[in-house]
Amino acid sequence: MRIIDRYLPNVVADGDDMGSNPTESRSIGEIIDARLSRRDLLKGVAAGAIIGGAGVAWSSPGAAADNPSTLTFEEVEHGIDETHHVAKGYSANVLIRWGDKLAADAPEFDLANQSAAAQEKQFGYNCDFIAYMPLPAGSGNSENGLLCVNHEYTNAEIMFPGLTEENKLDAISKDQVEVEIAAHGLSVVEVRKDGGAWKTVVGSALNRRLPLSATKMTVSGPAAGHERLKTGADPTGTVVIGTANNCAGGTTPWGTVLTGEENINGYFGGDAEAQTQAASYKRYGITKDSWYSWWKYQDRFNVEKEPNEPNRFGWVVEYDPYDPNSTPVKRTALGRFKHEGATTVVNKDGRLVVYSGDDERFEYVYRFVTKGTVDPDDRAANANLLDEGTLSVAKFGDDGKLQWLPLVFGEGPLTAANGFNSQGDVVVEARRAADLLGATPMDRPEDVEPNPVTGRVYVVLTNNNKRKLDKIDAVNPRADNTTGHIIELVPPGGEGKDADHAAAEFAWEFFLIAGDPTWGSTQYGKGVSANGWLACPDNVAFDLKGRLWISTDQGSSQKKFKTGDGVYAADVTGDGRAVTRHFFRVPADAELCGPAFTPDGKTLFVSVQHPGEGTSLEAPSTRWPDFAEGMPPRPSIVVITKDDGGEIGA
Ligand code: FEO
Ligand code: CA
Ligand code: CA
Ligand code: CA
Repeated sequence: MRIIDRYLPNVVADGDDMGSNPTESRSIGEIIDARLSRRDLLKGVAAGAIIGGAGVAWSSPGAAADNPSTLTFEEVEHGIDETHHVAKGYSANVLIRWGDKLAADAPEFDLANQSAAAQEKQFGYNCDFIAYMPLPAGSGNSENGLLCVNHEYTNAEIMFPGLTEENKLDAISKDQVEVEIAAHGLSVVEVRKDGGAWKTVVGSALNRRLPLSATKMTVSGPAAGHERLKTGADPTGTVVIGTANNCAGGTTPWGTVLTGEENINGYFGGDAEAQTQAASYKRYGITKDSWYSWWKYQDRFNVEKEPNEPNRFGWVVEYDPYDPNSTPVKRTALGRFKHEGATTVVNKDGRLVVYSGDDERFEYVYRFVTKGTVDPDDRAANANLLDEGTLSVAKFGDDGKLQWLPLVFGEGPLTAANGFNSQGDVVVEARRAADLLGATPMDRPEDVEPNPVTGRVYVVLTNNNKRKLDKIDAVNPRADNTTGHIIELVPPGGEGKDADHAAAEFAWEFFLIAGDPTWGSTQYGKGVSANGWLACPDNVAFDLKGRLWISTDQGSSQKKFKTGDGVYAADVTGDGRAVTRHFFRVPADAELCGPAFTPDGKTLFVSVQHPGEGTSLEAPSTRWPDFAEGMPPRPSIVVITKDDGGEIGA
C-alpha cells in the first residue's frame, strides 16, 4: 500500500514521506512550560471551548437536542457507502463530470477511446478548487456565472482499463500519459440556473480548458527570467507550458482567479540526487521516485535533461476567466512552495493581502502584502499588483502571538553568505529562506482564509502523523496528529473591515481540534453531536453570515474513522462556536474539495474528488455518479440548493 500512499496528497496512514523540513525543535521541558502558560492564557477566553493538558479530555460531545448552533438542518449520519448524502430539505445534483464536454465540438466521454485531444476539450480529472465568478463580471449575479475549477491530479488505476495501483507506473502507455497530462490543469465553464435547475452551458464562448499539456503561461515578479527558470524550450525563463497539481485557490477583487500549484515534486523523475540542485530538490521533496511515468516520455519532467523545470512549478498562478484568450501568469513574488491555495482580502489601507499555506508536514503559513493599493474603479490598473510586495512567514508564539517575518533579500540571514543573491533567489527557495528566519513548522497547512464578516483568518491544519511528542508546541499540540486542527488568527485593529491584515503581529487561538471526541484530546464547542465531529479538515468557505463551512480529506483513514469525507458547518461566534454539524457526505474513497457559495448564499458548489481511489476499474468501491456497468467512478462537481429556495444553512 506504500505506493498508494504516495499517490494520495492527504494520506494519514504511514507513508514514506517524512516531510522535507529538517528544522530542529525545542526541548520537552520548554514545550511543557509553553503549554502550561498557554492554558493559563486561555482561561477566561469566551470561546465556548474547553482546553486541557495531556491525558485530559478536551471536550465532550453533547446530544443533538442540545444543539446551540444557528445551523438547524438535520445532520447527515456518519458512514461510508457508494453515494452522496445531503441534509434533509436540500438537493444535491451532479453538475459536471470528468470527461463531460466543454467545447461544442468535443467528443462524448468514451472510456475505451480516450485521447489527449479529446481530454483537452473535456472537463479534467480530480476537480478541486471552485470559484464562482458571476456574469457579467462584477454583477453579483447568482444564477449565471463561470465555474473556475482546478484539476489537481489523476488516478490512472481507475481511468484506464488494464492499469492497477501496482502496475500503473510500468504499464502506462505514452498515449495514456498524454491523456493524464491533458486531464491536469484548469477548466472554466459557464453555468446557469434555468427553471430552478443548474446546468452547464456546453459550447459557451467563455468555456475554456487550460490543460497542463498546452497552455502558455508567463512568469512575472522577482523570479521572472531567473537563471534557474531557464530551460531548453524557454531560454528566457519567462514562459511555461501549463500549471500542475492545482489544489485550492482564491479570487481577487478585480475578478481574476488565483490557483495554487501544490504537490509539484511528484511529477519529476530522473536521478535527482546527482544534480547540482540536489539540496534544493530535497527541500522540495523532488526525488528519483516520481509519482508518475511522465518523465520517461517527456524530457521536461526528467531532471537529468531539464534540471530547471521543477523551479517553474510551485507558484501561484493568476488568470482572467472572463477572457478566454488571456495568458495566465505565474506570480513569483508570492514564493515557491506547495501552495494549497491563495486567498485574498483588501486591507483597510487598500493594499491586497494574500494568505497561503504550504501543505506538507512541518511546513509553514505565508502572507503576501502588495506594495500598491487596489484600484476598485480600474480593473487594468491592478493587472500587475501581485508582482511587488512583501512575502512573510508565520512564527507562532506560545503566548498567543504571531509574528510575520519578512522574506526580503538582504535582510537578516537572506544574504549572499547563505546563497541568496537576489529576491529571485529568495522566492525560488522560499522554504529555505523561511527555515533561516525561524518560522513555525505546522501540521500541514491547507486553506488559510480570511472571514469577510469577522476579519479573523482560519488556518486549516489537516493532519501530521509524523509529529512526535518531543516536537509538539503550543500551536501544534498533539503528537501523531492524525485528525488535524483549525486555528484562528486575529489581526489587530478590530473586527471586519477594521482588521489590519498587514500588521507585523497578530494573535492566535484554537478554533477546533478535530477527531472523534470520545477519543479525548479534541476541542469543539459544547454540543457537537455524534455525527458532527470531523477529521482532517482541508478547504473552507464562509456563508453570508460568516459561518465556517469545512470540507474534509481523510485519505485512506476514512476506513479507520468509519465515515466518508464531507462538509461540516459551524458558527464562529456565540454558543454555537465550533459546534460542527454534518451537512454533506461523499461516496467511498472520495474527498470533498472546493466549497463555493454563490453571492446570494443560495447555492453551494462542491467538488467530489477521486471517488473509488485506490480500488480498480474492474471492481471499484463505487461507480458514482453514473452507476452504470462499465463506467468508471468520475470526479464531479455537485450543486447543492435548498428545496424551499432559501439560503443554505438559513
Ligand atoms: Fe491538495 Fe493540500 O490538498
Ligand atoms: Ca486541499
Ligand atoms: Ca476555500
Ligand atoms: Ca486534499
